[in-house]
Amino acid sequence: MKISFAELALPKAGAVVFLVEKDTPFTGLAADADSICAGALAKACDVSRFTGAAGQTQEIVAPAGLGVDRVVLLGVGKASEAKEVDWLEIGAKAVSVLSMSGSEKATIVADVADIDTVSLAEGALLRDYRFDKYRTKEPDTKKPTLKSVAVATSDSSVASAFEARARVADGVFMTRDLISEPANVLYPESFADRIRDLSELGVDVEVLGESEMEKLGMGSLLSVGQGSEKESKLVVMRWNGGKDGDQPISFVGKGVTFDTGGISLKPGEGMEQMKWDMGGAGTVVGLMKALAGRKAKVNVVAVVGLVENMPSGNASRPGDVVTSMSGQTIEILNTDAEGRLVLADAIWYTKETYKPKFIIDLATLTGAIIISLGHEHAGIFTGDDDLAAQLNKAGLETGDKVWRLPLHKNYDKLIDCPTADMKNLGGRAAGSITAAQFLQRFTADVPWVHIDIAAMVWSEKDLPLSEKGGTGYGVRLLDRMVADNYEG
Ligand code: BES
Ligand code: MN
Ligand code: ZN
Repeated sequence: MKISFAELALPKAGAVVFLVEKDTPFTGLAADADSICAGALAKACDVSRFTGAAGQTQEIVAPAGLGVDRVVLLGVGKASEAKEVDWLEIGAKAVSVLSMSGSEKATIVADVADIDTVSLAEGALLRDYRFDKYRTKEPDTKKPTLKSVAVATSDSSVASAFEARARVADGVFMTRDLISEPANVLYPESFADRIRDLSELGVDVEVLGESEMEKLGMGSLLSVGQGSEKESKLVVMRWNGGKDGDQPISFVGKGVTFDTGGISLKPGEGMEQMKWDMGGAGTVVGLMKALAGRKAKVNVVAVVGLVENMPSGNASRPGDVVTSMSGQTIEILNTDAEGRLVLADAIWYTKETYKPKFIIDLATLTGAIIISLGHEHAGIFTGDDDLAAQLNKAGLETGDKVWRLPLHKNYDKLIDCPTADMKNLGGRAAGSITAAQFLQRFTADVPWVHIDIAAMVWSEKDLPLSEKGGTGYGVRLLDRMVADNYEG
């Protein structure tokens, strides 16, 4: 879908969306339109329950005299109190109402006071995504009709401010694409190939295979992929938009392209969901696309560990002991607690090789985080109050919300083990926290945050900013955190 900006004027065709404040008579172009069609819009409000509450909509099809397909009245609540997230959702609502309506183009009249037009346009853009590449027999009557949206505004600064947001949306879409791909299409090597495409934007991409990782001593990461026919990969992406020699910030992602659980096999029901167990890596890759796309003034290194966790005659067994790149040994008590094994080596490698300012890792790490926080917040774990505050603020601004959970030496003890330096399982209690404690043992003294996004990367229902499916959660969160704190 194309988004453009236009002069503030009544359109003569397509659909038109008027923004209406709660319990407020029409003003501006909406008032003009209402008088052209002899009060049909006001009448529609009177005979329905439309009040202009935020997100409420009222459609009037083919109103006489206006020439347009349809008018959509879209409530914005009290505009002076609406925040960035509210404007995103209002823009998204316009698209969700119109995408299947029959109209091919729409004009959103953005003329209320206090409007955040950039965020409204961004919301419209984000809501338009659909992963339909494998639907070959879908009848046209079930496909979206909306092809373009014009945002009519008198603010000439909006178009250029929107550019950066559109580049970030490109990153969100890439993440949604990666999350949505089935595991027969997206496996470590094909994932690495997709990442190589980022070199067009100036991202430096390096791919390590199993022999290189063996030389580095990554026995922990490699143990996860050893039961798979697919070769494990570690992909390093570098974006140098900052000053030469400036210490980079870093992101690390869990990229389990399919998680069967391995020998500790998962139950069959719902196992197909584990195609998106590469969500951490998918988010990190989308973030790099966003940062490079908008030419962020910062040096960033991103590392993703790509593996497939399969049971086979060559798979690791419960009870196996592996040696990580850090030298620390791990007893694998459950081969389904594999994400931490991947991240242990990816985090250590990032720290040793790039000496970053901080490391933020993202992972669909535990089912327990879904029990703790539901699908509203990702869990963050860190000893660094500044990083926690930066993420919290960016989360509230973008709508990609986070909630901090504790780390403590008493939780750390729960992964001590008589056989090796640690075990990969902490027991039933506090499963997300003991997983985070495990990761912390591979961060040494580098400021670090772990973000457990297991509840966030995929949605079983339509959300304000995305249809059922991959959400792209985290890209806008981290892009904003970087923009607010680490550029120039
Ligand atoms: N990828 C899963 C976590 C997960 C579960 C993500 C459900 C999304 C939905 C992870 O590898 C896993 O299997 N974790 C286990 C850990 C346990 C064996 C300690 C879990 O959460 O059950
Ligand atoms: Mn698992
Ligand atoms: Zn997993």
